Amino acid sequence: MIIRHWGARLSGDNSQVALATRTSVPNSGFDAPITPGIMRESARGFLGQQSLTGHGKVGAWSTKFEVTQFQSSPSSIDVTLQDNFACLEVRVHFEMDTYGVLTERATVTNLGEAQYYLTDYIHWLPLPQEATQTLDFAGRWSNERNPQRRNIAAGTWIRDSREGRSGHNFSIAQIALTQETNFRAGQAWAISIAWSGNSQYAVERIWDGTQSIGGGELLLPGEVVLSKGESYEAPALIAVYSGDGLDGVSSSYHSHIRSRQSHPKRPRPLTLNMWEAVYFSHDEANIRKIVDVAAEIGVERVVLDDGWFHSRRDDRAGLGDWVIDPQVWPQGLSPIIDYITAKGIEFGLWFEGEMVNVDSDLYRAHPEWILHEGQRTPPEWRNQQVLDLGHPGAFDHVLSQVDAILSGHNISYIKWDHNRTLVDAGHLGQAGVRRQTQAIYKLFDQLKARHPNLEIESCASGGARVDLGVIDHVDRFWTSDNNDALARQTIQRWTMQVIPPELLGTHIGPTHGHQTGRTLELSFRAVTALFGHAGIEWDITEADAKARKALATWVTFYKANRGFLHSEQMVRVDYPNSSAYLHGVQAADRSRGLFAYVQLEPTIAVHPAPMKFPDFDPTASYLVKAIYPAGRPRYMLSQTPEWLTGVTLSGSALAHVGLSVPILAPANAFLIEITRV
Ligand code: GLA
Repeated sequence: MIIRHWGARLSGDNSQVALATRTSVPNSGFDAPITPGIMRESARGFLGQQSLTGHGKVGAWSTKFEVTQFQSSPSSIDVTLQDNFACLEVRVHFEMDTYGVLTERATVTNLGEAQYYLTDYIHWLPLPQEATQTLDFAGRWSNERNPQRRNIAAGTWIRDSREGRSGHNFSIAQIALTQETNFRAGQAWAISIAWSGNSQYAVERIWDGTQSIGGGELLLPGEVVLSKGESYEAPALIAVYSGDGLDGVSSSYHSHIRSRQSHPKRPRPLTLNMWEAVYFSHDEANIRKIVDVAAEIGVERVVLDDGWFHSRRDDRAGLGDWVIDPQVWPQGLSPIIDYITAKGIEFGLWFEGEMVNVDSDLYRAHPEWILHEGQRTPPEWRNQQVLDLGHPGAFDHVLSQVDAILSGHNISYIKWDHNRTLVDAGHLGQAGVRRQTQAIYKLFDQLKARHPNLEIESCASGGARVDLGVIDHVDRFWTSDNNDALARQTIQRWTMQVIPPELLGTHIGPTHGHQTGRTLELSFRAVTALFGHAGIEWDITEADAKARKALATWVTFYKANRGFLHSEQMVRVDYPNSSAYLHGVQAADRSRGLFAYVQLEPTIAVHPAPMKFPDFDPTASYLVKAIYPAGRPRYMLSQTPEWLTGVTLSGSALAHVGLSVPILAPANAFLIEITRV
């Protein structure tokens, strides 16, 4: 089976596409045209990377599959292929949803008597030659998902992730584009791997000009060995073609994600996370004071972070012992939970169940329960080792301790962390990353089955486990440990390339950023945190009366607008000055938009380029005004443009003439509301 086209939707009679796209036979080449099918195979003369690689004890090192079954519907294809010599079967399922999102799944089954050692299975899709560039994302702790765009050249561009979690440097998508593609226009071909373990993306251009994009799990040596009748289920590939630029890609991903049965339906509660407010000092009286202010400004969920459990006075001990520490919580957690819930606020608690400190009762009792190889112990990271959840004893320990805490308390939310990478991660003499990844999905599912209203946040030193695999088991991502709003603008902008805003935790951090040390206006921090699942991560007892009032008006604004922000379409305007971002959310029926103008750096010219909004109804009239949910930005001018208090413009003037931008100090922002009149 050959995919002849992945791109714009075709209409009319296409029965001769296969004939039309058959290539010539070149000099010094195979004697018949070679086009890779969904199984890219050396046995058929294909010289790029193969779809499936592996081997048996003897033989089966090269495959030649034949289609044995084929079924299709207007939105799906099921194809079964067999290689009777290698004794393997591959079943591939393609499903296209109404948003143009293609999900590709594959299952490899060993039909033979001998064991089959699978090296990898990668899903590949064809890329047309118009795709001359690739875009993917790189990062580190506190600076996740920085875009990197480059020209496609002959060879293979590989982005792999070997952290055992998706990772800070994991590319949330691999995107091919044309030279001209920008946010709002141009073609883009995107793939994203639905997996939180090791993974690989590739963009390949081979000797004959064939271009492809692929992705799949990166298996470690011997990680998957199939006995007779056993199957390997490859992580799904979620692919999107857009003719409407990078925002078109996001729009499809967001709609696809929102259409899932498990997508959170409740309005996303305004959250206060205690981490940057108290760190490890769990002083109940102090926490109560913070909760009092939280209640005053309208917070709906309070999360008690790291530090509540046995011996966890700092990050050197305690992981693995998920029992309340009487040293800091002598009466247990019930009094503080009751205090919080009596104010109508939900309570959430932090766990890092996949980890263990060597200084813990768990490790002292079961040093063999960590992922390791032979007699070696992997190097420590933040003083911790990784618990081997593939070990039934370890799995049950975590499940039962977490379950006991949840069963004994009124806890509706857990923040689940994963603060180190997996290295030398062996399970009983075999590579253990895949097993570990499946185990954490299972653990989340079992916790949710036991506690049906439980919501889980996926955190991993900030945003190191944000992917389309874990998304089906959790309700929120912690986007980054960097709460500095200026850094967050870029981190959020690109995380939202795939993940819709309502799943991304975005918090107002302290006045002086704890990561960068920068001092940023509250109005700027508030505008930045608004475009996500908003919250606060700051000791708000420090906030003076004016700041508390600003926080309260911002919270009210968030509550009034979250329905809109969390269901409509994200827009990133291709603003001509790189010193600013212009982004927002716009109703699909074009009746309303809520945008942020974000001055990242000082402009060189006095006046920034006018703001233009490309996608409103050209003939409709709109009221446009600036709004300040948490106070005005810092200006550098003696008089603001008059329109800020309100001006009426046609959709075509919004698109082609625009509005002048007030001169802002760097790291400042304000909102623009556009409403059809
Ligand atoms: C990680 C998380 C933080 C916080 C700390 C606690 O770094 O990303 O938000 O929970 O762990 O130790």
